[in-house]
Amino acid sequence: MAAVLDSVRAFFAPNSTFAIDAETPADVVARETLLDRAMGPDRRKKSSEKIRRNRVPAEGLAIVARDGAGHVIGTVRLWNIEAGISSEGQAIDALLLGPLAVDCAYEGKGIGAALMRAAITEAHKRGHGAILLVGDAAYYERFGFFADKTRHLVMPGPFERSRFLALELKAGWLEGAAGMIVANGRKLA
Ligand SMILES: CC(C)(COP(=O)(O)OP(=O)(O)OC[C@H]1O[C@@H](n2cnc3c(N)ncnc32)[C@H](O)[C@@H]1OP(=O)(O)O)[C@@H](O)C(=O)NCCC(=O)NCCS
Repeated sequence: MAAVLDSVRAFFAPNSTFAIDAETPADVVARETLLDRAMGPDRRKKSSEKIRRNRVPAEGLAIVARDGAGHVIGTVRLWNIEAGISSEGQAIDALLLGPLAVDCAYEGKGIGAALMRAAITEAHKRGHGAILLVGDAAYYERFGFFADKTRHLVMPGPFERSRFLALELKAGWLEGAAGMIVANGRKLA
């Protein structure tokens, strides 16, 4: 994780006033406050939330952005899921990304992009095959997320198909993937 974060830092560091870092237990309150402000109280009603509820994020994949004083100004987490089954009937392990949010006072400074690149790089380094998310295609396409990879998959609740996107970290990982997304991460103690 440290090497990935260093490389993302090096890419974004000159003239910037933020750092990408691993989330710690001390960040939880600040992260939740940031998410409430950025996304509103309805964020807990989303179908993605059903997958996250009572689970811990995938190992090494809870990432924050900090300002110069160390305060949390951005957050992204990824979650272990099964992305349906393959044409051979095997469950397909993958990650669900979200929520991604940046403090509105810091929007448009590349922090969202830095969080996304750190998350993708770290997930790849850890050997994951694909990342799925529900979000605006106009934002996430720049990171390689497209709806065609999820066309035979469904979320466990209402979702807009055009916003249900995926990035393969290993070519062909989602080939033939069909069925419902199911949480398979570690449960909260
Ligand atoms: C979406 C979000 C994470 C982007 O963070 P950010 O740090 O401002 O993003 P970046 O600085 O890396 O990128 C800014 C660019 O993305 C564009 N952008 C931001 N949100 C976008 C969206 N929903 N659709 C399309 N483009 C978007 C901006 O217009 C800007 O474009 P430019 O580079 O051409 O000027 C942030 O706006 C946010 O927290 N929004 C509220 C929560 C949310 O919607 N999260 C995503 C759903 S999970």
